[in-house]
Amino acid sequence: MTTEDALATVGAVRATGGDASRPWTALASGYEQARAREDSLDRLVEWPAQRELLGDVTGLALLDAGCGNGAKVAQLVQEGAGASVGVDISDGFVVPPTGLELIQGDLSDLSALPGLAGRRFDRIMLLQSFGYARDSVLALTVAREMLTDDGFILLTRTHPVRYAIERAEENGTTLGEEYFSTEPFAYRHRNWDDAVTLTKRPYTIADLLNTFSAAGLWVEAVAEPAMAAEVGERYPHKRAVMNQYLGILLFKLRPLPQRPQ
Ligand SMILES: C[S@@+](CC[C@H](N)C(=O)[O-])C[C@H]1O[C@@H](n2cnc3c(N)ncnc32)[C@H](O)[C@@H]1O
Repeated sequence: MTTEDALATVGAVRATGGDASRPWTALASGYEQARAREDSLDRLVEWPAQRELLGDVTGLALLDAGCGNGAKVAQLVQEGAGASVGVDISDGFVVPPTGLELIQGDLSDLSALPGLAGRRFDRIMLLQSFGYARDSVLALTVAREMLTDDGFILLTRTHPVRYAIERAEENGTTLGEEYFSTEPFAYRHRNWDDAVTLTKRPYTIADLLNTFSAAGLWVEAVAEPAMAAEVGERYPHKRAVMNQYLGILLFKLRPLPQRPQ
């Protein structure tokens, strides 16, 4: 299915344009320091859920798009994944283990990156990075075309209700007003680097699902990880954050079967 066919399938897809990537040049090291903390939600909730949905990666070719410093895909290669690639717009990469290539580049068109044209991957990861694609449908369509026959995309995004609650608190508005708003908003993450402002476009659950359909993908599984009780007892301040703001959504996406012409 071409991108045009895919778009025609679902009709209008709201706001395919992405969040600006430029601030990440300044934000990347603060993000990685925050993520490495013992009590980061990535360590406590997100990465365990992402790892579980990925399943056994032994011998598989992985592409981690928007990989940050590359530590997650590096761990997977050390666990036995095959020749793999990480891509990020910033370049503060870990020293890669044998079998892993880390490339500075834009995930908006993965097939245009050096060495990636014509390559196929068993798992393509877009972990908290997909929102930065210039055109979300195009980026996902390109990623879909880079999958092996049994491949899937693991895509995670912040739960849109989380942003809506945060903005409702900040603006003295309601959850619904913010959830359905289409106005870009400024976002600063206290634990990453509160001097750097990201501009984010709001999205709804429907926007996400329509984008997947438009890119010729179907949702095989979705997860909304909660914090395990024993983790919450050890880190009550992070349990309080999850209880108030929810966390992330994880989608396991597979190509829709080709329709006969
Ligand atoms: C929230 S971090 C997530 C990092 C990592 N995937 C993880 O799960 O920890 C978002 C990442 O997307 C990267 N990024 C932002 N815009 C990008 C773009 N256009 N192309 C590639 N990477 C991008 C940032 O540099 C950052 O490393």
